[in-house]
Amino acid sequence: MAEHAIEMKDICKDFKVLNRHEGLKGSIRDLFSRDYKTVSAVKDISLTVERGEIIGYLGPNGAGKSTTIKMMTGVLEPTSGSITVNGRIPYKDRKANSENIGVVFGQRSQLWWSLPLIESFKLLRDIYMVPQKDYEDMIELYRSLVDIEPILHKPVRQMSLGQRTLSDILAAFLHDPAIVFLDEPTIGLDVSMKSKIRSLISGLNSEKNTTVILTTHDMGDVDALCKRIVIIDKGMKIYDNDIEHLKSYFGSYRTLKMRIGTDEWEEIVIDEKTTDIMDIIMKKQKEKKIRDIKIEEISTEEVIKKIYEGDAK
Ligand SMILES: Nc1ncnc2c1ncn2[C@@H]1O[C@H](COP(=O)(O)OP(=O)(O)O)[C@@H](O)[C@H]1O
Ligand SMILES: [Mg+2]
Repeated sequence: MAEHAIEMKDICKDFKVLNRHEGLKGSIRDLFSRDYKTVSAVKDISLTVERGEIIGYLGPNGAGKSTTIKMMTGVLEPTSGSITVNGRIPYKDRKANSENIGVVFGQRSQLWWSLPLIESFKLLRDIYMVPQKDYEDMIELYRSLVDIEPILHKPVRQMSLGQRTLSDILAAFLHDPAIVFLDEPTIGLDVSMKSKIRSLISGLNSEKNTTVILTTHDMGDVDALCKRIVIIDKGMKIYDNDIEHLKSYFGSYRTLKMRIGTDEWEEIVIDEKTTDIMDIIMKKQKEKKIRDIKIEEISTEEVIKKIYEGDAK
């Protein structure tokens, strides 16, 4: 077995895109045009991921997250640089690579729409040639982690978005792959479904030592699942370390929450080194009556926002 789960060195991915012109004349011109520009979606990213890690792969829209995942899964070939996943070059060895990975891409389900979930599971078992005993053990593990009874005999098309996402994640883990890629898995889900899905991912990771690469905009996912985060921006890696390390960088920051109306909380992030919290409270108190106060350590949400805004390097 390969040493690292994933190893990327100086990976770049460029897309050649047509410079589009407006209107009908423009569209016709575009048909014959040689007017291309290059979009650098991923620039010189190096990344090593160890077995069993859950990595939060974060960044604003268009940062290059999905492009990176497509290179890891073998869908795209890098423009330059080297990449191995489970010791293999994913785009050269797509079939072998796909046997060792599981993938969930946002809201696109991989399951058979009109089949009851259990029938999809059996098909996946046969496709991946999972031994019957391993298959049964996996279903048992699923049962112990999440209530699968309500969905097991339901066709995917009759499921709620949350049930479908849950099913997709279960399907991605079914053949016990070494690595699972989850691209925005909790998007659009309600709080209780998010929490079910987080504990499922966490349980599968610890039971099976599965490596998980997770992209998300939900910092609740990050708090619940990721020890290490990688942040990319405009195709470049700008942070790669433990989330705790990042928070300690902002150790003197506090989130001050003040309740003004009955249900209305105002939130301010303050650096205690430069600002006196009491001053802020007194000033506010003169304007409006403060009913309640909470002072908390800076949240993951705020820390990530600061990184995006360029407050830390
Ligand atoms: N197939 C493609 N053709 C041209 N440009 C693309 C293609 N896929 C992605 N891009 C561009 O590459 C950049 C990164 O996209 P993506 O990896 O989807 O970002 P993210 O997943 O972080 O939102 C964006 O500017 C996007 O428009
Ligand atoms: Mg994306």
